[in-house]
Amino acid sequence: MKAVVISLGGSVLTTFLEYPEKLNKFKRIIHEISRRYKIVLVVGGGSTARKYINVAKDFTENKSILDKIGIAATELNARFLIALLEDVYPKPIKTTDELLIALQNSNIVVCSGNEPGVSTDWDAALFADAIGAKLLINATRVDGIYDKNPTKNKDARIINRLTYSDFFELMKNQSSEPGNYPLFDLSAIKLLERSKIKLVVVNGLEPDNILKAALGKDVGSIVGE
Ligand code: UTP
Repeated sequence: MKAVVISLGGSVLTTFLEYPEKLNKFKRIIHEISRRYKIVLVVGGGSTARKYINVAKDFTENKSILDKIGIAATELNARFLIALLEDVYPKPIKTTDELLIALQNSNIVVCSGNEPGVSTDWDAALFADAIGAKLLINATRVDGIYDKNPTKNKDARIINRLTYSDFFELMKNQSSEPGNYPLFDLSAIKLLERSKIKLVVVNGLEPDNILKAALGKDVGSIVGE
């Protein structure tokens, strides 16, 4: 069975927590996709990570310590997703070797962050590469990739199709700090390009978009060759 990797923004999950009907829909959709694909679901730290990191910054300048707080938040979210989804691999996975074993036992595996200095988007690209997945769905809080930051610029426009180099150019000037890594790390984009993994960025707050992306329908922004 082919595999698809889904990078679920922690902020999407923390929003779902307030709307049980969205959580149920997300669960139904993940199980529906799992009838066609093995699923590797990588979850971010969301507002929990940012809240703790922002306060901890006043006490330490050590970015590795701050990142580890973020990683702990991704583990918390992964544990929550395992409880929500049921019938999945029972433990959050952190490394590509562990992932290969977990996928032999379950059709759905939930992963968290692992090493300081990167985001779960980077982890998701690494996992996709390790298992030979050709599709990475990034479920975020926005409708896709914009020509400028949509939260700061009202005239920002969505770009539906981009090459890896277009995406790299757009992302290259973004700041990179614990708790606040850009939509996608530059090194993650290079890895996707190297292994020709298609990236689809969708608004995950509407879980149907994740299903559409998995089925190859036109949704969000698509990065490829
Ligand atoms: P993410 O940045 O991946 O989660 O991890 P997020 O903020 O929920 O993602 P989006 O933006 O909504 O998609 C939270 C923080 O945890 C640390 C980083 O500090 C990161 O900003 N982290 C995460 C790591 O250091 N290593 C990892 O492998 C994963």
